[in-house]
This record gives sequence, C-alpha cells and structure tokens, in this order.
Amino acid sequence: MKIRHSRVIVTGGAGFIGSHLVDRLLDVDNEVLVIDDFSSGSWNNLAQHRSNARLQVEEADILDEQLMRRLHHGSQFVFHLATRNVRLSLLQPTIVHEVNTTGTLNILKAAAAAGVKGFLYCSSSEVNGTAVQVPMTEDYHFRPETIYGASKLAGEYYTQVFQRSGWLKTVIARPHNNYGPREHYAGILGEVIPRFILLALAGKAPIIFGDGKQTRDFTYVTETADFLVRLLESDEAVGVTFNICRGEEVSISEIAGLIINLVNPSLVPQYLPNRPGDVLRLCGDPTRLRLTLGSSPSISILAGLKETVAWFRRQVPHAPEVLADLQAKNWTMVEAEPWMPSAAEKGK
Ligand SMILES: NC(=O)c1ccc[n+]([C@@H]2O[C@H](COP(=O)([O-])OP(=O)(O)OC[C@H]3O[C@@H](n4cnc5c(N)ncnc54)[C@H](O)[C@@H]3O)[C@@H](O)[C@H]2O)c1
Repeated sequence: MKIRHSRVIVTGGAGFIGSHLVDRLLDVDNEVLVIDDFSSGSWNNLAQHRSNARLQVEEADILDEQLMRRLHHGSQFVFHLATRNVRLSLLQPTIVHEVNTTGTLNILKAAAAAGVKGFLYCSSSEVNGTAVQVPMTEDYHFRPETIYGASKLAGEYYTQVFQRSGWLKTVIARPHNNYGPREHYAGILGEVIPRFILLALAGKAPIIFGDGKQTRDFTYVTETADFLVRLLESDEAVGVTFNICRGEEVSISEIAGLIINLVNPSLVPQYLPNRPGDVLRLCGDPTRLRLTLGSSPSISILAGLKETVAWFRRQVPHAPEVLADLQAKNWTMVEAEPWMPSAAEKGK
C-alpha cells in the first residue's frame, strides 16, 4: 500500500531525520502534519516547504495527551520520531524517560483512537548496548547503557503490545547512526561527524573522546528516510522490527581520518578521555530489511561524507564562537539532576 495523497503525521518532523522524512512524504503528494516542540528541532529544517500548503506544523508537546488525540483525528499514517537525546539522558534522564515512554504511549493511543492504517515507531540501535558480537540482528540482546536506550526499548515494547492487541498495525524501525545534511552540531545535541567536519573546516584537529576504536554503523540520512517510508508501505513488515543500517563497522578514528583527508590532510586528531555511557561497538545486520524490501542502505561512508562535507561547507558559515562549543565535552553542558551524587564529576 503506497503512502500517497494521504494525511500523514510525523512527530519530531522538524528534527534531523524527521525533516528528511517530511521531504519524502511531501514529494509524493501527501498532506503532512508535523508535531514538534522544537526542543531540538528547527524551523530551518523545514524552510524549503514554507510555501507548501500541504505541510502543517503544530508546535506541540507529545506529552499533551488530549492535544495529541485531537491532532491525530483524521490521519491515516503516523511516523513517530519525536525523542529526547542520548547525551541529555546522561545527566537529565527524567525528561528523556517521560518523552520517550509516556510520549510514545500518548502517540500510540492517539493513533489507535484515530483508527490510522499504519504506525511506524522509530527506535534506535542504542537499545542493544555495546555489541559483543557483530553484526547484530534484530533479536540481539538488549542491554541498553543509557536511559535513552532503555526508554527507546520501552517504546518498542509498547508498540508491540498495540500490535498484538490488535489496536494498531505497527512496524518498528531501528536505525543505526545517521549522518548527513541538517545533522546537529551545536551544544549537547552535537554529533561526532558534523563536529569533526566543522573543526576540520576551521583548520582545527577533530577531537576524539576515548581511544577512537569505538565503532558505529553509519547510514546516510536520506536513505533512512526512504526506508522508513518503504517499511510502513510494506504488508510484510507489519508487526516486525527492522534494523536500518549498512552492516559496515567503522571506527571513530577512521571517520576522523576520512574527514581529514577530505577537508585538510595536514590535521592530526586529538585524543581525550572517553565520554560516560559511550557504547563501544555497534554494527547492525541489514539482512531482514534486504529480504523484506529487496534492498538495504548502500551509500558508502566515503560518498556520504563527501556530500555531508559539501553541505556543511555551504550551509554553516565558519563562526569563531562556535569553535569552543565544538571542542567542549558537550554532554556536560546541562545541569545534572540533583539526586545524581557524582554525575557532574563523571562527565568531567
Ligand atoms: N540520529 C541518529 O543517528 C539516530 C539513530 C538511531 C535512531 N534515531 C531515532 O530517530 C528519531 C529522530 O532522531 P533525530 O536524530 O532526527 O533527532 P532530533 O533531535 O533531530 O529529532 C527529534 C525531534 O523530536 C522533537 N521533540 C523532542 N521532544 C518532543 C516532545 N516532547 N514533543 C514534540 N516533539 C519533541 C525535537 O524537537 C526534534 O525535532 C528518534 O526517534 C531517534 O531515537 C536517530
């Protein structure tokens, strides 16, 4: 069943992945309602659709249950991406728990009450915790190392219950690390690839926290957006969980090396002590996705990084005041919750 000429909700649609998903959905004539509280999302991510009458943006908190119920009325498909961030969960787990668990339950209930045809829950590879064996299938052990990972897993379980109870037709997507245009670079939201790129563009060494041997399975963001749509369109995907990944393990040191080669080969990465809660090894198995949909993400890390570097070069003007931010331990940029005896110290 194609998602065309339909009324589609995207929670978190002003965010990094969500805004690319909105691009896809508008391209094929859907009416899209973005629900976003702009805690990490940005109007800039949707600026290209400013004059498109098929896009409606509701600045709202998914914790507002009654409002969610009203907003979902009349919708046919829901992509639930709204989330609070992994690094925030290190020092402020409560808000991350509330948005990712209660917020997800609110969206599931609102979608079920509206009788939507399909619901996609966007989970995360962080539900796994550090891999002891790779690649990780969808049935890998669940030992999340952060409240973020644990709360995303709770969202998966709630989604499964709605499916088994016959309240909704659902699919669970579990993206691995994404990168590409619009990725966060500033403050606590800043991710490793844009931080390395912007530092290199400013002539500064990428800063690696830890020994750089940590690995991730990186997917270019537009591919993830495509697969989110294809999963919700697929009858075979109903009730199933899918990794969205390439199945290639790349270390953080390798990423730094590739970016240095693309931007400024004279730079040498700087190594600092690691970040708490940093998962050491992640690499997914895309076999189920490939068998079900006939393909899986295939843009190589080098090709994706070239595009990403070009985008950041064009879109993010070099600003000296941003440099200090890019060099900081950004997970320490919020206050720790008062009950955490040594949280602030742990992060330093
Ligand atoms: N970026 C990645 O590498 C990655 C990897 C795996 C999974 N994911 C998942 O993909 C989804 C999107 O992540 P992203 O990287 O685009 O993050 P993002 O922070 O850019 O997007 C999240 C969006 O949710 C919004 N939001 C947060 N709290 C909200 C609330 N209470 N009410 C309404 N909106 C709220 C934010 O404003 C933001 O626009 C998330 O579900 C995340 O868990 C991301």
